[in-house]
Amino acid sequence: MMSGLKDKVVIVTGGSSGIGRAAALDFAELGAKVIVTARRAAALEEAASIHPNITALVADVASPEDAERTVGKAIETWGRLDVLVNNAGAGAILPLAEVTAERIASIFAVNVIGPSLLAAAALPHLIATKGAIVNISSTFGHKPGAGLSHYAASKAALEHLTRCWALELAPHGIRVNAVAAGPTESGALTGMMGLSPEQAAAIKAQEREQIPLKRRGNPEEVARWIVQLAEPASAWVTGQVLAVDGGLGLT
Ligand SMILES: NC(=O)c1ccc[n+]([C@@H]2O[C@H](COP(=O)([O-])OP(=O)(O)OC[C@H]3O[C@@H](n4cnc5c(N)ncnc54)[C@H](OP(=O)(O)O)[C@@H]3O)[C@@H](O)[C@H]2O)c1
Repeated sequence: MMSGLKDKVVIVTGGSSGIGRAAALDFAELGAKVIVTARRAAALEEAASIHPNITALVADVASPEDAERTVGKAIETWGRLDVLVNNAGAGAILPLAEVTAERIASIFAVNVIGPSLLAAAALPHLIATKGAIVNISSTFGHKPGAGLSHYAASKAALEHLTRCWALELAPHGIRVNAVAAGPTESGALTGMMGLSPEQAAAIKAQEREQIPLKRRGNPEEVARWIVQLAEPASAWVTGQVLAVDGGLGLT
């Protein structure tokens, strides 16, 4: 059956690695035109090279000017925008005793302010196409985690933005949903979370033990639900946070 995403235009932030890269490839293989963003050009160009429907744009979700620039690129290139995937994330293992205003602000800049400015910039174009927004949250957006409070609170904010925007934008026919990923094999622990390879390996072993299905996920297993929520076939689903987490959120 042909996908309803064929010839639709999709923005995936943080599309050079992990979940975003896998989602961009899925969208492209279904015939959508995809803009992927990230800060580092080399990895981004490499991710864009895996499918002719993927175009790279170096942009920082934490930079307010880049929201208009990212949406502008989709409109200049293809004249429309159907789907915004707010995937790029920032986080840290940050015990309360170590917080600074800068560290808290840097997490919220990427996980809350950036997605809000992108959604606002996308709004007139999503109204025109009756499009969709998919926000990428985490199990820790609804489950407490010691040492993760500001990452977790930023994802909790993104989950609630999802519900509020779903209500606010429903009169325009725009759907807003989220995927709350569980521990997934990607560059996140050594990259976004800033852990050493040894620390990352210890956390992976601990997480595997806690996950009811006894393994971490892979990016493709998360990506397929991002695409599913964006599909026009999901037309009656809005305001939902779908946990794709091997059951971790149940514990
Ligand atoms: N992996 C997990 O276990 C897990 C679990 C729950 C939720 N998540 C969420 O899933 C999302 C994707 O994470 P992932 O695991 O796929 O991570 P990843 O493999 O580290 O990929 C992160 C991507 O985001 C980009 N990025 C980071 N900061 C950015 C910024 N300020 N502006 C633009 N792009 C930025 C990175 O490229 P540059 O560094 O070059 O910018 C990269 O392309 C995040 O929102 C994360 O919170 C992940």
